[in-house]
Amino acid sequence: MTLLEGSVGVEDLVLLEPLEQESLLKNLQLRYEKKEIYTYIGNVLVSVNPYQQLPIYGPDFIDKYRDYTFYELKPHIFAVANVAYQSLRFRDQDQCVLITGESGAGKTEASKLVMSYVAAVCGKGEQVNSVKEQLLQSNPVLEAFGNAKTIRNNNSSRFGKYMDIEFDFKGSPLGGVITNYLLEKSRVVKQLKGERNFHIFYQLLAGADAQLLKALKLERDTSGYAYLNGEVSRVDGMDDASNFKAMQSAMTVIGFSEEEMRWVLEVTALVLKLGNVELSNECQANGIPASGICDERGIREIGEIAGLNSEELERALCSRTMETAKEKVVTALNAVQAQYARDALAKNIYSRLFNWIVNRINESIKVGTGERKKVMGVLDIYGFEILEDNSFEQFVINYCNEKLQQVFIEITLKEEQEEYKREGIPWEKVDYFDNGTICNLIEHNQRGILAMLDEECLRPGVVSDSTFLAKLNQLYSKHSYYESKVTQNTQRQYDHTMGLSCFRICHYAGKVTYNVNSFIDKNNDLLFRDLSQAMWKARHPLLQSLFPEGDPKQASRKRPPTAGAQFKSSVAILMKNLYSKNPNYIRCIKPNEHQQRGQFSWELVATQAQYLGLLENVRVRRAGYAFRQVYGPFLERFRLLSRSTWPRWNGGDREGVEKILGELSVSSKEVTFGKTKIFIKSPKTLFYLEEQRRLRIQQLATLIQKMYRGWRCRTHYQQMRKSQILISSWFRGNRQKKRYGKIRASVLLIQAFVRGWKARKDYRKYFRSGATLTLTNFIYKSMAQKFLLRLKNNLPSTNVLDKKWPAAPYKCFNTANRELQQLFYQWKCKKFRDQLSPKQVEILREKLCASELFKGKKAAYPQSVPIPFRGDYVGLQGNPKLQKLKNRQEGSVLVAETVKKVNRSNGKTSSRILLLTKEHVILADTKKSQAQIVIGLESVTGVSVSPFKDGLFGLHLSEISSVGSKGDFLLVSEHVVELLTRMHRAVLDTTQRQLPISVTEQFSVRFKESDVTVKVIQGPQSHEKGKLSCKKKGSRGLEVTVP
Ligand SMILES: Nc1ncnc2c1ncn2[C@@H]1O[C@H](COP(=O)(O)OP(=O)(O)OP(=O)(O)O)[C@@H](O)[C@H]1O
Ligand SMILES: [Mg+2]
Repeated sequence: MTLLEGSVGVEDLVLLEPLEQESLLKNLQLRYEKKEIYTYIGNVLVSVNPYQQLPIYGPDFIDKYRDYTFYELKPHIFAVANVAYQSLRFRDQDQCVLITGESGAGKTEASKLVMSYVAAVCGKGEQVNSVKEQLLQSNPVLEAFGNAKTIRNNNSSRFGKYMDIEFDFKGSPLGGVITNYLLEKSRVVKQLKGERNFHIFYQLLAGADAQLLKALKLERDTSGYAYLNGEVSRVDGMDDASNFKAMQSAMTVIGFSEEEMRWVLEVTALVLKLGNVELSNECQANGIPASGICDERGIREIGEIAGLNSEELERALCSRTMETAKEKVVTALNAVQAQYARDALAKNIYSRLFNWIVNRINESIKVGTGERKKVMGVLDIYGFEILEDNSFEQFVINYCNEKLQQVFIEITLKEEQEEYKREGIPWEKVDYFDNGTICNLIEHNQRGILAMLDEECLRPGVVSDSTFLAKLNQLYSKHSYYESKVTQNTQRQYDHTMGLSCFRICHYAGKVTYNVNSFIDKNNDLLFRDLSQAMWKARHPLLQSLFPEGDPKQASRKRPPTAGAQFKSSVAILMKNLYSKNPNYIRCIKPNEHQQRGQFSWELVATQAQYLGLLENVRVRRAGYAFRQVYGPFLERFRLLSRSTWPRWNGGDREGVEKILGELSVSSKEVTFGKTKIFIKSPKTLFYLEEQRRLRIQQLATLIQKMYRGWRCRTHYQQMRKSQILISSWFRGNRQKKRYGKIRASVLLIQAFVRGWKARKDYRKYFRSGATLTLTNFIYKSMAQKFLLRLKNNLPSTNVLDKKWPAAPYKCFNTANRELQQLFYQWKCKKFRDQLSPKQVEILREKLCASELFKGKKAAYPQSVPIPFRGDYVGLQGNPKLQKLKNRQEGSVLVAETVKKVNRSNGKTSSRILLLTKEHVILADTKKSQAQIVIGLESVTGVSVSPFKDGLFGLHLSEISSVGSKGDFLLVSEHVVELLTRMHRAVLDTTQRQLPISVTEQFSVRFKESDVTVKVIQGPQSHEKGKLSCKKKGSRGLEVTVP
């Protein structure tokens, strides 16, 4: 689908042959009939309204135009939008899309298409999509409130709109700002025949549900409202009800709250109801005419919606307060004046509501101040209008269009040709119509129509529309673009198309006759203070906020700027804005007056083509150059295409550019070198350059990527290597440190042990390890001390017979306790012994000796122990006979008792008195006091006794003694133990020898020559007590039975 392949007519009028008005129109008609509504003049798009939906705006078309360059595809509005968007994104140039054309030519549709294309191709993402949605959804809202059906256009924009869409550096939309220009508010109260009021009124009545209508105190029937032209309430192909829903959902998307939406509808309803307030003439008491409200219910309902006292509202509508420096004067208004006040109020409320809506949308879509933005402005202003009766609004609208035409002329025709001249490029001037004079006629600061109007409005004295017209007539009588009845008189006397109260301006798009009626009023745009004050008092928050000047505190006596002045200054700002951006033109053409598809009205299109200057545009374009740029930036952009200029170029800019174009073999016809700029004839060459640049960028990008990746890998590797070395050195160091630390710790430990060991050796005694011993010792000592002290305090009695002794408290003291017991006992005994008298000692010695001799041997011993040895059992002291038995030298008698002597021959016993002295044993007859036998103790060789209790003993004598010949004696003593003990001692004392005493049951005694064995037998218990019997057992045996 390239430029030349199967195109209908020519797609770019620059290629038209022959270049004439007729061929141009034919080409447009041909294309239009084939549904090719778009045609280029270079980069300017001419669009002919198809009045039908064409299948050329789908997503497939969007994709196609996104991927191809301008001239590669059929002319399309998307191509223009794409160029604008791409330049914004990649050349960093702010853009504006200027859409011009008369009412119904398709400007608004075109602006929506541009916006939707940009929305489709720019960035994506949740945030971006929501911004896009908000931007796109502003259209249904603004169209509902700002568009209306006119005779020319069923959806005519009755306000100017300039929308700046703001993008971030990536080309994603951030938000935007909408500027609106002068709403045609007179439409609120009056519409021409066949026209409608603003769409919103019809949408509200058709689309609101019964509940909402009731709440707004409205009725569905449009014919019931004075402000709605009863004739036309419906528009073909327009569904007000569904548009109402769409408008509501758009408001929600933009971010209007439920409450805000309700307020907006309430204020809209209020305007509608205001139209139904009928005012009739009344007469005051003093006869001065006044007015009053006929329909009480209507005004009450308005009061209810607005939150206003209906009487106050009535007062504001029907009277006017004049304030002078000194006093306030209230004048009643007659019905006409009151109706005028009512309409003024309705218009004001509505236009202020519209401004509020625009501001509210701006609030939602505005972008934070901090972000760097690129801007694309889309201008969709109300189109040029020529009505039967043109008023102030048309004057303003047409002025605006005139200014836009001026921008177009300035940039595309005038400035371009002047530039060629400046740059020294051979140029044949193309004539064109310059509308600068017309613009001046309207806007000149001192002598412009708007300045005159302002002057008239401010002038003291009687001012009226006719005085204003007179002034114009006087001032412009010679002006070639101004006509009026007065000025015409001289030229054409009978022009019925112009009334007396009219003037005419020859606009670029045709002559328009304006009726000056109400010019002054509309320019003043004053609302009676009573009304603004009344509105400010409303409790309805939105309504109140629309009338800030009604606040008595803020009331300013300064006159607000006139509508004309305001509009002029906002147009000036707009122009400045447009000049600062790169323009993209869309020139809309209306093919017929009937909004009919397929109808191509030759005359109508011819007029438009003419006033739009299409032919001139083509001529300049054809002779001129499609592209120009200062050498510096051009070189900067394309220097990468030549090896001489890339990467460094030291020469001048122009030389650099020449070098590049030379190397690329661009035909010399295609380029011209100006003084400061390079001019390129056809866009194709530029596209070729751009394509080359794109390819080169790809190459360079690959190169940079390659170098960068290599560099990154290298540095990464080096970093890794460095890190590895660092890590291993640290690791090794750390390992060594750890090892060293371990060794050191071990050395220190060993050292410490050795030192400790040494020290302990020296100081062991002070160490705690010795403490156990010390403690044990201490404890042991203390235990011993306690034990001893207790023992000391509890010593048993010193009675030697008392063997009691306390047990040791601990086992360890058992031995000591035993020893102590023994010691104590010995000590007790010693003490006992020490206190004994020598006599007692002697007694005890005897007893001791007795025990040594008989203890445990003889049964008679135990009985003898407790009985003290008396020695004398025969009364020796008192018996002098017995005393004589012993020698005087011999000393005392040791024992004197009566013993029994056993007769050796028969064993019979006979009593004898036995005396034991220190040296002798004397036996005497009991009756005779003469000693029978005296035995010297030295002759006694031994004694034998039985182990029994008996007193039998054998006294063995030595054979050589004096009595020895008789042999041994067998004697029985009752005190045998005492006797033998003393005998033993006496023998020892006397002879120094131990007397052997044998304790035995059988011993032999020597009788005369023979030895007789004496056998002692213990007799039975029943044996006669004390009786001892001897029986001879043969010649050598004697058996003694003892008890
Ligand atoms: N590209 C298009 N495709 C289909 N229909 C179109 C197109 N452009 C315009 N129209 C039709 O033409 C009508 C008028 O177009 P539009 O409202 O854009 O005119 P306008 O130039 O904005 O007029 P005004 O100055 O009155 O606002 C649209 O309602 C639509 O029906
Ligand atoms: Mg429009």
